[in-house]
Amino acid sequence: MHSSAGLPLAARAADLVGSVIDSSTSLLASQTHDIVRFAMGAPAPEAIPTEVLAEIGAETIGAGAHAAFDYAATEGDPGLRAALVEELAGTSDETTLERLTITSGGMQGLDLACKLFVDPGDLVVVESPTYTNGSATALSYQADLLEVPVDDDGLQVDVLEDLVRRAGRTPKVVYAIPTFQNPSGASMSLERRRRLLDLARSWGSMVIDDDPYGMLRFEGEPLPTLHELAAGDPLVFSVRTFSKIVAPGLRVGWVDTAPELQPLLINAKQAMDTCTNHPLQRLLARFLEDGHLGAHLDTQRAEYGRRKRAMQQALEAHFAGRARWTDPQGGFFLWVTFDPAVDTEALFPIALAEGVAIIPGNAFSPSKRFPDALRICFATSSPERIAEGVARLARAVDRLAARTSGRS
Ligand SMILES: Cc1ncc(COP(=O)(O)O)c(C=O)c1O
Repeated sequence: MHSSAGLPLAARAADLVGSVIDSSTSLLASQTHDIVRFAMGAPAPEAIPTEVLAEIGAETIGAGAHAAFDYAATEGDPGLRAALVEELAGTSDETTLERLTITSGGMQGLDLACKLFVDPGDLVVVESPTYTNGSATALSYQADLLEVPVDDDGLQVDVLEDLVRRAGRTPKVVYAIPTFQNPSGASMSLERRRRLLDLARSWGSMVIDDDPYGMLRFEGEPLPTLHELAAGDPLVFSVRTFSKIVAPGLRVGWVDTAPELQPLLINAKQAMDTCTNHPLQRLLARFLEDGHLGAHLDTQRAEYGRRKRAMQQALEAHFAGRARWTDPQGGFFLWVTFDPAVDTEALFPIALAEGVAIIPGNAFSPSKRFPDALRICFATSSPERIAEGVARLARAVDRLAARTSGRS
């Protein structure tokens, strides 16, 4: 029995690792000085379509909309499910009603996937680096994690094959973020996507296809999602969310799975939260029905491309020759690696004091790799604030270097 303050904790409680990323929200809220926010992967405040939401909200969840405040169906509000099927028709995420379950954000999709497929001690492949909360979810179900490196073309599938051979057992689940990966921004090449699915089929593994950023492409040619490439093969469990394309505080997402899984998803969800927030599902249903998403995404994509370039220019101005960074064609993040090495965990409090929030690289690896890297989000801040934030980051790196050399 594990114990904390003498309480009879479950064994799994010891495997709960939490998220450095999420904890930064309350840490930042408690700061009183000006901070440029590169830490959370959140849309810009001005990118949240509050005027449209207020307008349609008055009708859909305003006075008299009693039904919207009742419990919803566990699989999701019928209006939202129907509007989503229509919205996704003809895209790489095209789906049908019987494959669709509305969730409380992408995180609940990840939790449901692990709840259904991960037993204690199962091998779960994660990208390295990976989304902190994704690996934390697998760990909360007591998985053994196998970290597989990512390069500019995403998950290194040949290395995956090799590491699985050496592990002497096949993975139960492969957790992949194929497009504009969090944190690196890399996208898995088409060839690797196909090979990954072939390998998963040969192993009998499930693939969690976590793709919250795919609709936010501002450069390059679209790639088919794992969902599309799988063509209905039940091994792909796709997790999607409105968090990055509309607003994260809504906490509404969806999963797209083999229809046979839906009764299990419903049972699991009924034991978790009964249903996803009903008023906000209604609000999103109307947002989609009225055709707002397409125009909204067009504006956001152009703006995020501009912000990425602003961040790269600022990095070039301050860190040329001292660091490398990625060049994503969409999404929210740049991944910066320092050479010579900078201890980014030690950098974090200094950067915060200078007025810029980052996430240290080791937060994206369960075994704490990438001590000399960091993730910065270009989506949240204007180009001017990005320039200011990178200048502050450069001052913080210099202060850390001065402190380190003073000590030695
Ligand atoms: C790769 C990835 N998956 C899932 C999520 C979780 O999404 P949500 O905020 O909708 O729970 C995020 C959010 O940062 C993410 O980056």
